[in-house]
Amino acid sequence: MNNNIDNKAKLWAGLSKEETNKLLDKFNSSFDFDFRLWPFDLQGSAAHVQMLAQCQIIKEEDKDRILEGLINIEKEISADPSLWKAERQDEEDIHMAIERRLTDLIGEPARKLHTARSRNDQVATDFKLWIKKVNLEFCELIIDLKQIFLKLAQRDLNQIIPGYTHLQQAQPISLGHYWMAHYERFNRDYERFSEFRQRLNYCPLGAGALAGTTYPIDRLLTAKLLGFTAPTNNSLDSVSDRDFVAEHQFAASLNIIHLSQLSEELILWASEEFKFIKLHPAFATGSSMMPQKRNPDIPELIRGKAGRIIGNLQNILVVLKGLPLAYNKDLQEDKEALFDTYENLKICLQIMPKFLESLEINTEKLNEISRKSFMNATDAADYLVKKGISFREAYYAVGQIVAYCLENKKYLTDLNLTHWKQFHESFDSDIEEAIKIETCVHKRESFGGTSPTRVREQISKCWEQINQQTNALKTERNKLNESDDSGCRSWFKISPNY
Ligand code: ARG
Repeated sequence: MNNNIDNKAKLWAGLSKEETNKLLDKFNSSFDFDFRLWPFDLQGSAAHVQMLAQCQIIKEEDKDRILEGLINIEKEISADPSLWKAERQDEEDIHMAIERRLTDLIGEPARKLHTARSRNDQVATDFKLWIKKVNLEFCELIIDLKQIFLKLAQRDLNQIIPGYTHLQQAQPISLGHYWMAHYERFNRDYERFSEFRQRLNYCPLGAGALAGTTYPIDRLLTAKLLGFTAPTNNSLDSVSDRDFVAEHQFAASLNIIHLSQLSEELILWASEEFKFIKLHPAFATGSSMMPQKRNPDIPELIRGKAGRIIGNLQNILVVLKGLPLAYNKDLQEDKEALFDTYENLKICLQIMPKFLESLEINTEKLNEISRKSFMNATDAADYLVKKGISFREAYYAVGQIVAYCLENKKYLTDLNLTHWKQFHESFDSDIEEAIKIETCVHKRESFGGTSPTRVREQISKCWEQINQQTNALKTERNKLNESDDSGCRSWFKISPNY
């Protein structure tokens, strides 16, 4: 029997002495993209090995040597991640790369690390830890964005803009109300990410390859050491579950859809035709040919990136569809799309607040539009209703008035009482006040309506909401960063950027 294992060979070599085909090696390898999981792989191994020692499955001194080795690997990679990666291009994945390096560094004890563990539970754990961290990061970024909406809403409370349905001018609204509509969308995104974070609290490590293990392991201990609430319940499910990837992709997709919808409006608003806003030169680009152009590349790119992020959701759903239990190599395809979503959504969330703050509101144009429009027609009808006329009768009378105005190139505010009376006898001199654009906005005082009084109330409620959310996030962030006796969670502190 030959016990001299060649540490250059595949760690799973044993069954066959034959070399694997080079094309298979290239095809099979995920190292190029899963390298970024290294801090979580180290963290997972640190927890695992401490649990093994605690349960007397390996000796204390072996555990100490392994932990020492893992810390050294952490130092090596942190010093120059690209170099460490470049020197190991041929590795199959990050898990193998770290185990091999550990073996190079500390020899025999390293070979005990994989006791009672499989790469199947290992990769599920690493990936969940990564997503837990990213989830918090997104929540923090969404909070930053929500704060901008509150600031803009406060600033623009009394600025009137056209409100649209079917992209046709409908009723006047406060610009503050408009910003608060976006606040609500992003608040739901925040809640979606937060709710799904609760489901990330269960640790797959210890599920083994699929069936659990014959060793007397303590899964609760590993889970706790890694900052999870408890272990997952079923080993088969644990190694095949990627619901958390799909959930993240869905939350990210709705988030980018909201960013994209906002972008679309800002692009329209910056056009010569709308001219509601002016782009800041620091946040706009020029044309290589047309000297007069200032292009809204930022919102256009955000709108464009929605394509790939929604595509990435599709990607994981289709990978999962039809997979038999438990681990299948198809699952290796879960990562790149998620990393892509992460990078792209992150920059969109970072840039949008700055872009929003840089915009100049064209108040002159907005005020002119409000004066020259029929957005007060509903209010003329409501005026009659308040005088006891049925809504349908009032609607019909105002319809005729609008037709008259269009024919005679007038707006409702140009009409005198004689005009009004021609269409309905119940009109009186107070109609003038009732159809002032400011009245139309200020009078919409129903809960959730556009009246500045209501919007102001919403803004202060939302500041409270943000304070609560920020405090909750801080607690979670501290929990994640906190180092306990094991030192496991300190990996987050040592390596904040990966
Ligand atoms: N690189 C693999 C992945 O991302 C790790 C798990 C490999 N497991 C296996 N049984 N081959 O899924």
